[in-house]
Amino acid sequence: MKESSQPWKPFTAKYCCSVEDQTFFGNFSRCRTSKSDISKNINAPAPSFRRLSFSDLSRSSSTRLNEDLAQSFGPDLYDFQLSELRAITQNFCSNFLLGEGGFGTVHKGYVDDNLRQGLKAQAVAVKLLDIEGLQGHREWLAEVIFLGQLRHPNLVKLIGYCCEEEERLLVYEFMPRGSLENHLFKRISVSLPWSTRLKIAIGAAKGLAFLHGAEKPVIYRDFKTSNVLLDSDFTVKLSDFGLAKMGPEGSDTHVTTRVMGTYGYAAPEYVSTGHLTTKSDVFSFGVVLLELLTGRRATDKSRPKREQNIIDWAKPYLTSSRRLRCIIDPRLAGQYSVKGAKQMALLARQCVSLNPKDRPKMPSIVETLEALQHYKDMAVACGQAQASTKSATRNGVSSGGRLEGRGASYRKSAPVTSSKKT
Ligand SMILES: Nc1ncnc2c1ncn2[C@@H]1O[C@H](COP(=O)(O)OP(=O)(O)O)[C@@H](O)[C@H]1O
Ligand SMILES: [Mg+2]
Repeated sequence: MKESSQPWKPFTAKYCCSVEDQTFFGNFSRCRTSKSDISKNINAPAPSFRRLSFSDLSRSSSTRLNEDLAQSFGPDLYDFQLSELRAITQNFCSNFLLGEGGFGTVHKGYVDDNLRQGLKAQAVAVKLLDIEGLQGHREWLAEVIFLGQLRHPNLVKLIGYCCEEEERLLVYEFMPRGSLENHLFKRISVSLPWSTRLKIAIGAAKGLAFLHGAEKPVIYRDFKTSNVLLDSDFTVKLSDFGLAKMGPEGSDTHVTTRVMGTYGYAAPEYVSTGHLTTKSDVFSFGVVLLELLTGRRATDKSRPKREQNIIDWAKPYLTSSRRLRCIIDPRLAGQYSVKGAKQMALLARQCVSLNPKDRPKMPSIVETLEALQHYKDMAVACGQAQASTKSATRNGVSSGGRLEGRGASYRKSAPVTSSKKT
């Protein structure tokens, strides 16, 4: 996943101002929405503007970068010192570890009223990026620029950042229920009821619809269950904008030289040609719908070969309620709306269509899913046959590795290593 193993050097124009980066960050729209009516946000007129260019910021040294970011974001984002973040996470103590992803560890921290003026006492999540190589810094900056400007009830709130010499950290609001990945696939968690799965699907769809509906569409590029974070009432907050990209201007497709994302979730045309559109996110959304329906991971190497890819395995079962019963998550124990599940399965099938044009748009997906909330019919629990002959139980095999490649090729990311900061 890392682009290079060279130590990070402050960005220079030579390093960062590729055509891709210009498209990525140039003329970024500032998007602020009212925090109340989510569905209103989807159809809302394009948000107001502020110009913020990646190339301006990335030319800076870390000291200059801090000044530039502070100037750009003002009171919206706090510029933390490393010592402050050490203090609130007990020196990134392992007892406070919330999780570990492709770019480092995430620790829980507690902010009190005295830390910064205007910052209320609260729990936070501090991501400590392992920025060995250029890519880590690029993702950190992307996250600050996107999440610093985008605000929506279904996007996680970035509270601040830290940029000190070679250290790069991000401070988010703490999501008490963690990620959807943990709820769906970790044995310890209680199974999510049908109505909660539907609520999660709707919240995530609204988050993506908001991104795609911005004046310049934002392509999220890394939609997957570990990036769907859950608040105490299961409100979805999308996180991780390190791979997000501004939509193309003038045409509806954008060719990227670097294919990035996560195995099992990335749209086939994007993986093979680098063509990136909002429909790439719709494909990934379809994969997550299948995970919600079946309780299986997008890719699972521990299963028999024909069951390892969720789409290949599930596709023949998505067209009727009778067939669907064979693959529905056994942890639902029959407690799901038969009509609702069938509609969701048909929607998932459309989303993972090979031809991007056959995939629905996010606002229409939101509408379809919202209509399912009215179904009150429940399947009767008994004798659910699983499509798997070997095993109907889930397992804790890790989800697909992230993709990164050049042109039409891609490779599996290197094993994740945590940064050993003390
Ligand atoms: N804001 C947050 N609140 C609570 N837990 C979080 C938060 N952000 C991340 N996490 C946890 O940390 C884990 C690692 O996150 P991340 O570094 O984004 O990697 P990935 O998305 O690849 O899992 C997540 O899966 C989640 O369980
Ligand atoms: Mg994440």
